[in-house]
Amino acid sequence: MGKLKITETILRDAHQSMIATRMSLDDMLPMLKPLDDCGFYSCEVWGGATFDACIRFLDEDPWERLRVIRKNMPNTKLQMLFRGQNMLGYRHYADDVVEYFVQKSAANGIDIVRVFDALNDVRNLQTAIKACKKEKVHLQACISYTFSPVHSIEAFVKLAKEFEEAGADSICIKDMAALITPYKAEELVRELKKAVKIPVQLHTHYTSGLASMAILKAVEAGVDVVDTAMSPLALGTSHAPTESIVAAFQGTPYDTGLDLNKLNIVREYVAKLREKYLKNGLLNPKVLGVDANTLLYQVPGGMLSNLISQLKQAGKEDQFDAVLQEVPRVRKDAGYPPLVTPTSQIVGTQAVFNVIMGERYKMVTKEFKGLVRGEYGRTPAPIDPEFRKKIIGDEKPVECRPADLLEPELEKLRADIPAQYIEQEEDVLTWAQFPQVAPKFFEKRQQKKYGVDGAHADKESKVHPV
Ligand code: CO
Repeated sequence: MGKLKITETILRDAHQSMIATRMSLDDMLPMLKPLDDCGFYSCEVWGGATFDACIRFLDEDPWERLRVIRKNMPNTKLQMLFRGQNMLGYRHYADDVVEYFVQKSAANGIDIVRVFDALNDVRNLQTAIKACKKEKVHLQACISYTFSPVHSIEAFVKLAKEFEEAGADSICIKDMAALITPYKAEELVRELKKAVKIPVQLHTHYTSGLASMAILKAVEAGVDVVDTAMSPLALGTSHAPTESIVAAFQGTPYDTGLDLNKLNIVREYVAKLREKYLKNGLLNPKVLGVDANTLLYQVPGGMLSNLISQLKQAGKEDQFDAVLQEVPRVRKDAGYPPLVTPTSQIVGTQAVFNVIMGERYKMVTKEFKGLVRGEYGRTPAPIDPEFRKKIIGDEKPVECRPADLLEPELEKLRADIPAQYIEQEEDVLTWAQFPQVAPKFFEKRQQKKYGVDGAHADKESKVHPV
């Protein structure tokens, strides 16, 4: 049995899960070199919600962040996460945009791309897989983990084989809602290792309190890599603590070979950040505990807080339990999608409407109609034709790969973006993914650089196109 490898998530998922993705590059800088010294298999540093948070809340250029991390961490593979044909935005993009996004991610320093599709529709990952092959970056395809009458170990193994055949370099079991139990993890990893030749990685959250146990059993079953987070931002909605997992396997055949003393240098710094985030309110002590609700309703942490705020807006906070119970029913009607972005929002919002309107599907969101119509891809279970008719009437369902319906759009996007915003080629991708937020971000970026009156404030710090 080979050594266990670790993907450290402190620069992406750990702070996305705990402080709404608000860790700034300034907060990261002091730990980049110490992190690079640790010898992790990889560090997850980009993608997910970081891009959105950079331009929406932090006034940071996400591409520049990536370049700075790359420069300061020359010895560690840098990893990112994105949602197949959605990339980091909230709609399907044409293939040429996805290809360009992968090209620019690789050019700015990404070594490993982890992609997932909320419906586990392999067709939605094909373009990303091909683009990664072309750019010679490692492509990791995700099994979005869930359970339902149509999700079995056999179904996941079949999916993993499809990923391998499509050209994936490794498989990730992506357990965003912290549902995987130790024995399910053991069984799934064992069967995956039998079925595919490429490495298998486990990504699970601590929300339900099971992560360390799931990791232990997965490692014993032969998992190659696990995701962890430095202890001060571990546990709760985040991941298992890196130092504890490293210590757990020391002196065993799975020994990670990582040095706890080196990890401690990073830990001391992250502990200071934790104090700061607790003081400034970014870190809500609520996210630090165990939330076993997810085991019953499969509702990931982020979705739970969305449901609460939607109900608050409607003045129906007392209906929270009813909504929680409605979520699995809506999910069943929608063909049992795993609940992860964007299906978690689509199913959650529809459940809220079903409850507050006092009648199920009296009011149906555009996104839910799209899901039922097949605009997001093939649902894990086929949708009942009667139900579909009720939701979309006589509209024709989409049966092909959804992106096949899209014309190439990169040139149009390049023509549409106002010239004064462009400082680097990558800006068109920022614009494409966040059309509402990007203009404000570009304007602020210019003001910072040239001063409000347009005078050159800081000529030297001009972003270098790569
Ligand atoms: Co995650």
